[in-house]
Amino acid sequence: MLLSSLLKVAVASLCLASIIAQKVTQDPQPMLVWEKEAVTLDCTYDTIESSYSLFWYKQPSSGAVIFLLRQDSHSKQNATDGRYSLNFQRASKSITLVISASQLEDSAVYFCALREPTVRCT
Ligand SMILES: *[C@@H]1O[C@H](CO)[C@@H](O)[C@H](O)[C@H]1NC(C)=O
Repeated sequence: MLLSSLLKVAVASLCLASIIAQKVTQDPQPMLVWEKEAVTLDCTYDTIESSYSLFWYKQPSSGAVIFLLRQDSHSKQNATDGRYSLNFQRASKSITLVISASQLEDSAVYFCALREPTVRCT
């Protein structure tokens, strides 16, 4: 009994590991931008899936992680919301975040994330 539940835990964490394996690449350097300028943040990713979603998040110094935009791989349009917009290049696996008319509150760490279809672990 104990062995079988231990096994399940091991399998679950393996599946998790394959989901969280690093597959996105961002420019790690801090960027300095004048207020009102546009900011361009690049992110490239790697996947063999044809259907997936990409997310951009922002983390200000408060530590809270704030969702900005989501792009689905099959979408024919670049996602946009207010001053945030994406330039999604599916063929070159790149998803660039553009922040227009930058403000002081835009000072933050920005993350991009790739979500692939759920891995089955049964
Ligand atoms: C997003 O915008 C860029 C630049 O205009 C364009 O090249 C690209 O095809 C667009 N992507 C989608 C999915 O609409």
